[in-house]
Amino acid sequence: MREVELLSLNKQSNTMTEALRELRTNIGFCGDDIKTILFTSALPNEGKSTVVIDFARSLDESGKSVLVIDSDMRKSVLIGRHRAKAKDGEPIKGLSHFLAGLSKLDEVVYKTQLKQMHIIFSGPRVLNPTELLEKKYYSGLIHAIREKFDYVLIDCAPLGAAIDAAVIAKECDGAVIVVAQSEATSKMVLNVRRQLENSGVRILGAVLNKVDMKKANYYGKYYGGYYGKYYGKYYSEYYNDVDEE
Ligand SMILES: Nc1ncnc2c1ncn2[C@@H]1O[C@H](COP(=O)(O)OP(=O)(O)O)[C@@H](O)[C@H]1O
Ligand SMILES: [Mg+2]
Repeated sequence: MREVELLSLNKQSNTMTEALRELRTNIGFCGDDIKTILFTSALPNEGKSTVVIDFARSLDESGKSVLVIDSDMRKSVLIGRHRAKAKDGEPIKGLSHFLAGLSKLDEVVYKTQLKQMHIIFSGPRVLNPTELLEKKYYSGLIHAIREKFDYVLIDCAPLGAAIDAAVIAKECDGAVIVVAQSEATSKMVLNVRRQLENSGVRILGAVLNKVDMKKANYYGKYYGGYYGKYYGKYYSEYYNDVDEE
């Protein structure tokens, strides 16, 4: 298997570690049939990629094998942000190579330096991401890998901007909505929920991100039945973003 080193991984604060552990427990309680989980949001920059990578690290630490698929082919930041370098020195191949039929599956799955965390990067930008995702290659990919890992976490484009996540949802066991406090309106988030529900995927919950910890208790304010998660704003202290966004 090809290997990649993520040269910059942020340190996690205790609040973060705790929040991620809770997310892990909550998802664990959703049942062992939940393996492939997509993450989306209403808007860009709500923290999907951040949450996905940190959640993958948290699962890895707990002894689970995990594959992250960067399926946000509109705004991909993982290679630059984490300064990913392939061990063999070759240019990194990604999802768009695979979906276009240019690379085989084992050429795009990279094992990271963490124990059991793997990544498929998004690959170069393409003009027609939705069309590529709708093709049989994507569902073939999900089916081929689901038995190889304990969890497959799929980082998707925001549903307010493109229907990609709803297309991907058809192939997933569960979906998590990332909501940055004070960014998306509740109407926007409910719209995301409706689109996901229409795709038939089970909605596992929402991660409330970029929370102002000084303010009142927001737990579950917007989403009656969902669990809200304080995924602290402390994050920014540790995050050294190197991408142009
Ligand atoms: N909890 C947080 N606190 C502060 N900044 C955050 C937090 N989560 C994400 N960010 C920052 O917000 C920006 C967008 O995050 P990102 O994960 O790329 O969002 P998305 O994938 O939803 O577009 C990044 O600069 C990231 O470092
Ligand atoms: Mg992202």
